[in-house]
Formats: sequence, structure tokens, C-alpha cells
Amino acid sequence: MKHLLSVEDLDRDRIVELLDGSEYMSDVLGREIPKVPALRGKTIVSLFYEDSTRTRLSFETAAKRLGADTMTFTAGSSSVKKGESLLDTVKTIESMGIDAMVVRHSAAGAPHRVARWIDASVINAGDGRHEHPTQALLDAFTLRRRRGDVTGARIGIVGDVRNSRVARSGIQCWSRLGAQVTLIGPPTLMPERVDGWPVEVTSDLDDILSELDVVYVLRVQQERIGRALLPSLREYYARWGLSVDRAERLKPDALVMHPGPMIRGSEIATEVVDGPRSLVRDQVANGVAVRMAVLWDLIGSGGMA
Ligand code: NCD
Repeated sequence: MKHLLSVEDLDRDRIVELLDGSEYMSDVLGREIPKVPALRGKTIVSLFYEDSTRTRLSFETAAKRLGADTMTFTAGSSSVKKGESLLDTVKTIESMGIDAMVVRHSAAGAPHRVARWIDASVINAGDGRHEHPTQALLDAFTLRRRRGDVTGARIGIVGDVRNSRVARSGIQCWSRLGAQVTLIGPPTLMPERVDGWPVEVTSDLDDILSELDVVYVLRVQQERIGRALLPSLREYYARWGLSVDRAERLKPDALVMHPGPMIRGSEIATEVVDGPRSLVRDQVANGVAVRMAVLWDLIGSGGMA
């Protein structure tokens, strides 16, 4: 595999292979010196046209833990401001000699285009509302570690699914691993069509709460939502927020996940984020291991272990 652009390109075996590789990388991260020189001499550039905290730092940490050199490009402080196109920007960076490009862009399909333009491997780190494959892998890895297996888990993805690339990648990844996904939220924030998607849909969180093994909470992406589609945030929280009261009604061993950035009190209560059910910190920590496994898989040479 040369690029990682979409979970659609990964079958179940490929996903399991990457999760097993992440397990190895997670062991590396637990060592006294959490590094292996597997990608020494390789150069990885992150090309970010949209804001990011976790994803960018996580990829950069992953690259460094594997001994690669890293470069960072953020559109806001670049010649994009002077009008340089995506094509010229990408070609310019490629001329410096790179092995992999990690791309985030507000346009769906931008990483696919970049992959056609350059010889280096391309990883989609979030393209518009389309996909965010490494987020899906790190979520699956995190749940597999906690439960031992993802198969059979009932996962409720709550909130702004319509605008969520995390949900689009997650749905495919979860279902390939044998989990059952239900999308929960206001009808205005549900995808226009879910025909053919391996999901059920409901607007009633309270009704389904006690059946879920995982509540996967999404941020209400105000920057991507037209005003008319969103009830007031208070109203939203009252019906779809993961409050302390709702968390108490979950199964005793049910878990809570969130991809970040979280807006505490808008979609999830602070006590729930910091409580015993929460996998939020694990998701972030595991993100580094999963991205190490992906980078190694795409541009490393030889076997993983
Ligand atoms: C998300 C993203 O940017 O797609 N965050 C992430 O990468 N962990 C989700 C969001 O912005 O709400």
C-alpha cells in the first residue's frame, strides 16, 4: 500500500494488520527510550490547510519516534496567503526531497489529488467532511485494547454526523471489524442519505442509551453548519449532550469516546470526560502508536517487528 487516503481502501485484514502493528509501536512507546530508528533518513512533511492540534502533533511525534526528519507546513503562515496554488505548493515541497506527506484540507478529495501529483506517500489527515482514516484506526485500536475485541460492540455515534469526517471513516472501520453502529442526533445533523451505510439511525438518545457499549460523542462543528440547521446549544445539550445523568444510565461497563477537540458542557459534561468510562486520553496516546504503524507500513522497508 502506497497511500492511506480512505478507510474504504482497507479491508478487515488490512485494518487488523495495522492495529497489530500499532500494538508493537505502543510497546516501543512504553520503553525507557521510546524510539526506534526504523525511518531514519526518511523525511515526512505535514501539510495542513486546516487547523489542528492533536492530529498534526501526533503525526509529528510518530515520525520523530521512528527517527524520521519532519517538516511542517501550515497554510496560514505560508505563500498560500500570496496566492500560491495547492499544486505549486505541493510540487515545491516535493522538490526538497520527501518520502511522505500528511495532508489536511477543507476540500474533500484534496489528498487524493495530491497523491496523483507527487511520488511520495500521501496520508489523509482529514479532508473536508469526507474522511479521517487514522482517527478511525486509533479509535478502533483504543477500543480493542480496552475490550479485547471490537466485534459485537454496539457503538452510538452522537451528534453532528453530517459534517463529520471522523464519523464517515469510523462507521466503515467499526463495521468492518464487526461492531454495530447507530447514528444518534437531530435529523438536521444526520447525513442526507444513509442508504447502503452499515448503520441504524435514531434521534432519541435516551431511548437507546442503556443498550450501548460505547458512546462516541462528536463536536458540534459550528464552522461547518448553517445556522438554520442547529438548535440552540442549550437545546442541543438537553437532548443530545452526554450529561452526568445520562452517563449514569449507561451499562456499568459502557465506555465514552470523543475525537477532540471537546467543548466541555456543549456536547459532553466535564465530569464524564474526566470520569472512569472515558477513553479520551487513551485515544490521544494511542494516536501516536497508530500513526507510527501507518508511517512504517507506507514508507518503511522490511517487516514491522
Ligand atoms: C476532528 C477533525 O478535525 O476532523 N478532530 C480530530 O482530528 N481529532 C473532529 C472535529 O474537529 O470536531
